[in-house]
Amino acid sequence: MNVLLTGGAGYIGTHTCVELIKAGHKAIIADNFSNSSPKAVERVEEITNTKIPLYKIDVCDKEAVEKLFSENKIEAVIHFAGLKAVGESCAIPLAYYRNNIDSTLTLLEVMKKHGVKNFVFSSSATVYGIPEKVPLVEGMPTGCTNPYGWTKLMNEQILQDAANADEELSVVLLRYFNPIGAHESGRIGENPNGIPNNLMPYITQVAAGRLKCLGVFGNDYNTHDGTGVRDYIHVVDLAKGHVKAINYAQEHKGTEIFNLGTGVGYSVLDIVKAFIKANKIEIPFEIKPRRAGDIDECYADPTKAREVLGWQAEKSLEEMCRDSWNWQSNNINGYD
Ligand code: WQD
Repeated sequence: MNVLLTGGAGYIGTHTCVELIKAGHKAIIADNFSNSSPKAVERVEEITNTKIPLYKIDVCDKEAVEKLFSENKIEAVIHFAGLKAVGESCAIPLAYYRNNIDSTLTLLEVMKKHGVKNFVFSSSATVYGIPEKVPLVEGMPTGCTNPYGWTKLMNEQILQDAANADEELSVVLLRYFNPIGAHESGRIGENPNGIPNNLMPYITQVAAGRLKCLGVFGNDYNTHDGTGVRDYIHVVDLAKGHVKAINYAQEHKGTEIFNLGTGVGYSVLDIVKAFIKANKIEIPFEIKPRRAGDIDECYADPTKAREVLGWQAEKSLEEMCRDSWNWQSNNINGYD
């Protein structure tokens, strides 16, 4: 199928692009490069030996999206594009609502006009808010603690309502847990702007000497070692989940929600120790106060994705740590 990847130059978008092309699909990328680099697309072309149509556009720009659809026979959309920093969303909520909601509405309107019926959405485990219990199952209560999370949950609602109103529309909502790692080539990887918010890119930048010391945000959580527990999943496993989701959308109508996680929770200190062991590199750290909005633990029950999508994560924590470092050590300054 001809698949449009909005935000396709990003961390998960580029890895998904590689797996889609490997599976025989044609990828078209739309990205405004507000949080990504055109170099990343060049690297995907290098890995796949494939030229990828690339549109430098804002997905909220209806005219630009319309032009893309009129120039390409799009058969499915994977919507990655969006602002995604939890803390920033609290500071500029209107920009998050404007961007993350508008882009989805624009895509749905243009898709309807062009008869495109398959929509895969990049959602997040953050929609579960502060979970009453773990592991998390798709039918559990949702509710968010920050504007970023609310934009994900609102998009889920918009997409479900759109599918309810159009029996031909197929929507797959993928709730990501914590993607880390990189393609085995080390040519694409996570490339955050500025100081990383997320744990693994912070660790790899400490390992690369770009940052001095990892701050561990709190060691008094209700977990086995007091530090926060999350479900870390290799980004290549996550990318393969999107290929399965595209196939599922092609064969089904209506809306389906899937957790894309490993089902295993690791603490911050588990990750630090695993990284040190896998890469034989010391990572200095110090315990810092808790970060506002963080929760004790969050990990998936991935049963539904295994039984319905025919997908499950396969890569180990050692591979996640090794591949994260392979990317960073070969690209000390990311794509710059
Ligand atoms: C993981 C753990 C921190 C950094 C967020 C979003 C989620 C998704 C992934 C976009 C926590 C601890 C972190 C550091 C630390 N983003 N930590 N020191 O918060 O689980 O999820 O990113 O889709 O939607 O909510 O990921 O990597 O920021 O934190 O101790 O310098 O690492 O407290 O326990 P998080 P994270």
